This record gives sequence, C-alpha cells and structure tokens, in this order.
Amino acid sequence: MGGVTSAASSPASGSSPMPVASPASDSGPSHPSVLGLAPVIPVVVLEDAADAVPLARALVAGGLSAIEVTLRTPAALDAIRAIADEVPDAVVGAGTLLNPEQVAAARAAGARFLVSPGWSPRLLGALRDSGLPFLPGVSTASEVVTLLDEGVTELKFFPAAAAGGTAYLKALAAPLPQARFCPTGGITLASAPGYLALPNVGCVGGTWMLPADALTAKDWARIERLAHEAAALRD
Ligand code: 3PG
Repeated sequence: MGGVTSAASSPASGSSPMPVASPASDSGPSHPSVLGLAPVIPVVVLEDAADAVPLARALVAGGLSAIEVTLRTPAALDAIRAIADEVPDAVVGAGTLLNPEQVAAARAAGARFLVSPGWSPRLLGALRDSGLPFLPGVSTASEVVTLLDEGVTELKFFPAAAAGGTAYLKALAAPLPQARFCPTGGITLASAPGYLALPNVGCVGGTWMLPADALTAKDWARIERLAHEAAALRD
C-alpha cells in the first residue's frame, strides 16, 4: 500500500490539508509511507513545550512541514500534542521511540508518523500495530535483510554519517534495491544533497536547521530561513 493519507490514520487529526504523497515504493503490506512526506525532515529536541507551536510554524513557513519531535525530553509529548492541535499545516511525527509504551503515548498525543533509532521485535510489533507510517532504524545489511523479510522496506539509516554515510548506502543498493532509507545522524546542509541523490534514499533527517542558539533565543525567523534553505535542496 502506498499513498494513504496520514490524516486518515491519525487519531488526533482528521482535517490536515497535507496528504502523504505516494512513495516510489511502499513500507510493506499494510503501512503508508514516511519517505513520501518531504525530502527533509527536521529532527526536533524540545526542552519547553511552549516553543513547539512557534517552532513548527517557522518550519512550515520555511517549507518543512513534516516534523519529527523526539521523545528525548519530558516536553516531547506535550509538544507533539500542541503541534497536532495548533499547526494544521504540519505533519508531526514522533522520534526516538524505544518501546511500545512510547509508541502508544506518541500516537495518543497526535503523532502521525513514527521513527526509531533502532528496533527490537517488540518495538517493531508496536510500530506495525499503530496503523501509522513508521521508520525503524537500522545500520547494518543484516538488519536490512531481517526487516525486508518482515515486509518492511522503508527504514531509517542511523547514525548515517558514523555508520558509513553515502558510501554504505550506495553499497547496499546493489544487493538490496528494494530497501529505501531516510538517513539521519550527522547530516548537514552540505552533505544532504549527496544522500538525496542516491536512488535508495527517499528523504533525509537532521537537526542542522535547528541550531541550539537559535532555539534558546527563540529566533524563529532564523529557523525559518534555515528551513527554507533545507527545503530547497530537492527543488
Ligand atoms: C536523529 O535522531 O535522527 C539524529 O539525532 C539527528 O542527528 P543530527 O543531530 O546529527 O542531525
């Protein structure tokens, strides 16, 4: 299946104007796609949920409407809820999911896609059962083979730069062309185009458009400019 709208599978939305585009491949027999959402997914770490809405508005205004909020801070679930409720043009997802309990909490908060840095059988089961598009993290060929065998063809490649970068992804494409990736981890404005040019890369994720000093200063205009630069990468 591909091209299912994320709004159709979200418990908390229902009125988003942004459909999930049909991907070039699908994520298995019963899941829509994260890779079709956007070429660049900002990976957000928020200390203060009050920043969620202005930050999401800046990212959307800059052209980055698929936003991953990581469950690395206590503010994350409130941030997801606020974006889902107040920024209808954003497609908010949850990242750094490590267990089924976090998957359930993220879904209840309104997350419309799910991302994990790695996977376990228990986590994979919960991601599948969520009914939402998901990207389990992998960094080796054996994990790719295992997940392909499970019917999952869309994967996060993490930590991308440290695990071998574009050379590693290029090497995977020959024996495993059916696997498609969203690399994240150590990607920059300068290195992103090299990833996006690969046939087995659907999008990239990263934090480079969210510098810590801009977040601390609540410099939303700067983040909008950086988002705009990132969004232009695949124009
Ligand atoms: C992720 O979780 O995807 C990464 O932490 C993002 O990595 P970056 O900060 O190196 O872009």
